[in-house]
Amino acid sequence: MNYRSTMKVNDKGHLEIGGCDCVGLAEKYGTPLYVMDEEYVRSVCRAFRQTIAQTYGEGNMAYASKAFSCKAIYNIMKQEGTCIDVVSGGEIYTAASAGFDMSRAFFHGNNKLDGELDLAMQAGVGTIVVDAADDAERINEYAKKYGRVQKVLVRVNPGVEAHTHSYIQTAKVDSKFGFSIKSGAAEKAIKDVASRSNLKFSGVHCHIGSQIFDRSAFALAVDVMTDFIKQLQEDGITVDVLNLGGGFGVHYTEEDPKYNVGEYCDYVKLLTQTLSDCVERKKIKKPVFIIEPGRAIVGEAGVTLYSVGAIKDIEGVRKYVAIDGGMTDNIRPALYEAKYEAVLANRANDKPEEVVTIAGKCCESGDIIIKDIKLPKAKRGDLLAVFTTGAYCYSMASNYNRNVIPPVVFVRGGKSGYAVRPQTYEDLARLDVIPDTE
Ligand code: LLP
Repeated sequence: MNYRSTMKVNDKGHLEIGGCDCVGLAEKYGTPLYVMDEEYVRSVCRAFRQTIAQTYGEGNMAYASKAFSCKAIYNIMKQEGTCIDVVSGGEIYTAASAGFDMSRAFFHGNNKLDGELDLAMQAGVGTIVVDAADDAERINEYAKKYGRVQKVLVRVNPGVEAHTHSYIQTAKVDSKFGFSIKSGAAEKAIKDVASRSNLKFSGVHCHIGSQIFDRSAFALAVDVMTDFIKQLQEDGITVDVLNLGGGFGVHYTEEDPKYNVGEYCDYVKLLTQTLSDCVERKKIKKPVFIIEPGRAIVGEAGVTLYSVGAIKDIEGVRKYVAIDGGMTDNIRPALYEAKYEAVLANRANDKPEEVVTIAGKCCESGDIIIKDIKLPKAKRGDLLAVFTTGAYCYSMASNYNRNVIPPVVFVRGGKSGYAVRPQTYEDLARLDVIPDTE
């Protein structure tokens, strides 16, 4: 097993994260439990920010909070001086209530609701990303209502296709996101923005996909985007900001490359160097550089702890090891055929000896967390740790079967504490009403 960051096996043979023994965490907080390694999150943020400052100059990273959203993570971003990407009223509300300076927020969405735009104005969201035909008109109206000039970016579709799972590609020509450069829709949208009195056109945005390891796709995106910036410049439109979105791949299984934080920064370096070259070669105004990673910031920081329960051995067919969570806390295997690695955290030094399938507890045959993983012989009560669950697990969790969503605990330097408290059955039924329809 290739332990990352602050993880190790301690002398009791237990998995340890951020100086906390996972067996102790499970005893203290129960299972299933999301554990987040705070130091890892902070170290990636610092490394990304530092790389941008050293290799480019003006710019920042904006944490794409759809990957994992709660007050504690916005608080970390506040302390680390990053920007954030928010995509809903709920994310705006949560970030603002954590005291995040919303002038450093980018508000995205292909269908921003009236209430969301109103909240964005009230919260003082710094930049709104135009991503729909009538966004400019609507944002302009709200800006007028609040007596402000709203900074906007325009999301464009550069038509760059990154090699990743097709469900999570967002910049193909057939996409609900962004205005196509090729068709002329992007420049038209920008001119529309520029013509509105309460909008300030600030720059362009693109996002070419997610879980990308193919660095040439990012370099190509920079090339296409700077060509577009040049075209705009020739048409008299100044671009101050270039936001290149997120999408950096993380290590889920041995099939994926594994980077330490320093190597990760090579992605960013490649982007800043390519951009600097393009700026010089194409003689365009040097834009402020923003990247928007989500998964790369929190993905590998997260581990989910489960207790092993029922074991079903179908002779000659498959052995199922069931856990006390499943698709309600991690929908990714069912939705994307995503793969994960795991260990028995209470016996992390034991030799893997049999291939089993980790099944969730939901009433759904597809509720499988890991198909075919080699583990030591698991028994009821063992503690299973599934790695790289920090991104898009808690944020995509559901209450299917009226299962409660597990709490989130942050660990750092041997200390632990709730970032999200456990849901209770009362919470589940709290909004239920028996309607008076008789
Ligand atoms: N910026 C924009 C505009 C995005 O649409 C996304 C992700 C990001 C940034 C962050 O991408 P990241 O760095 O996290 O790859 N639920 C899927 C992922 C969907 C990503 C959607 N957009 C999953 O679980 O894999």
